[in-house]
Amino acid sequence: MAKKTVKDIDLKDKKVLVRVDFNVPLKDGVIGDDTRIKAALPTIQYVIDQGGKAILFSHLGRVKTEEDKAGKSLAPVAKRLGELLGKDVTFVPETRGKELEDAINNMKDGDVLVFENTRFEDVDGKKESKNDPELGKYWASLGDVFVNDAFGTAHRAHASNVGIASTGIPTVAGFLMEKEIKFIGEAVEDPKRPMIAILGGAKVSDKIGVIENLIPKADKILIGGGMTYTFYKAKGMEIGNSLVEEDKVDLAKSLIEKAGDKLVLPVDSITAAEFSNDVPTEEHAGDVPVGQMGLDIGPETIALFAQTLAGAKTVVWNGPMGVFEMSNFARGTIGVCEAIANLEGATTIIGGGDSAAAAEQLGFADKFTHISTGGGASLELLEGKELPGLATINDK
Ligand code: 3PG
Repeated sequence: MAKKTVKDIDLKDKKVLVRVDFNVPLKDGVIGDDTRIKAALPTIQYVIDQGGKAILFSHLGRVKTEEDKAGKSLAPVAKRLGELLGKDVTFVPETRGKELEDAINNMKDGDVLVFENTRFEDVDGKKESKNDPELGKYWASLGDVFVNDAFGTAHRAHASNVGIASTGIPTVAGFLMEKEIKFIGEAVEDPKRPMIAILGGAKVSDKIGVIENLIPKADKILIGGGMTYTFYKAKGMEIGNSLVEEDKVDLAKSLIEKAGDKLVLPVDSITAAEFSNDVPTEEHAGDVPVGQMGLDIGPETIALFAQTLAGAKTVVWNGPMGVFEMSNFARGTIGVCEAIANLEGATTIIGGGDSAAAAEQLGFADKFTHISTGGGASLELLEGKELPGLATINDK
C-alpha cells in the first residue's frame, strides 16, 4: 500500500490515537455481531505489544438529539473488547474534558482506553459529522500519533478521522484498513483474470456507480436481486408487481448497451403474489406474469451464474440475489455462495453490508478470501471513488 501503516512508526511510550469502526449492532446493551471488534484486534494488539498506549474511539449509530444517545454508548463494546483482549480496558463515558484527559494521562505503556461514542458530539450542531476543525484539533491534542483503522468509516469525512489527520499529526493506517484496501483495491484495479463481479440488492440506484466503474474492468458482471426487474423493464419485458425504479429504466437501458455481453441478467425468477414467505411460490423463465413479483433468481439462473463463474480468478460480490431472509427466496443467494465456494485458486471478496450478512447467516462466511467490514465504504471503493479517510493517511 502506498500509505504508511503502523509498522512505519515508532509506538513505544506514545499516546496512540486509534480510530476504529465499532459501529456494531447493539440492542438493549447486547452486541448482535462483534465482527468489527474482532477485526480491529490485530492493530490494537500490535500497539500494545509495541509499548504504546492505545486510545480507541468510534462512532456508534446516528445521534441527532440528546434522546438518541440512549442505547448508543460504547460501554458494552469496551467490555467486549476487554474480554477479547483478555485484559482490562478503561472506558471513559466522555468525548472530551478533564475526566478523559486525566484518564489518558494516567495510562501506562500497553494500556487500552476507549472513550465515548464520537457522535455524541453531534447533538449540539453535528460537530463530529460535519468535521468541525476545533473538535478534530482537540482530539488530535490527546495523542502523539494517529492510527486510522476504521475502514468502515473511510467514506466519511468526519472530525474523528479526517479532522484529526488534517491537523498534521503523524497519521498511519492500521492493519484492517491496509487489508481492506489491498483486497478490494487489487480486485478492482489489478485483478487476476477472469474477474467477475456479482451485483445484487434491491435497487439499481445503489449500484449505478459500481456498475459504471466495473464495466471496463470486469470480464463479466452478473446481476441479481430486486434490481433485475428495472433491467427487465428496460428490455421491454413484463415484470408483474416486481420492484422497479421507473426513473432508472432509461439508465438501465444505457448500462445494458454500454456493457454489451459483459452484463449477464437472470433468465428466470422465483416469484410470489405477495412479499411474504407464507404464500405459494412460482418459477418463471423470463417475463414475470401479472400479479406476481420476482423475489429471487431461479434455478436456471443459478446454473448460468455457476457456469459463468467457473474458472474465475477474482470474484467481487455485493448485494444478495433475492430476499434471502425468507427461506423461500434464499436459494439464489445460497447457490451463488456455493458456486463461489467451489472455485479453486480464486480470490473471492464480499463487499460488506447485506451480502456479508447473507454469507454469515447462510453459513458460507469461511468460504471467502475476504469479507469486508465496510458497507458504504466498500461500495464507494468499488465505484472507484477516493475515500477521504484513506486519502488523509500519510503517504509512504
Ligand atoms: C457503516 O456501518 O457503514 C459505518 O460504520 C458508517 O456508518 P454511517 O453510515 O452511520 O456513517
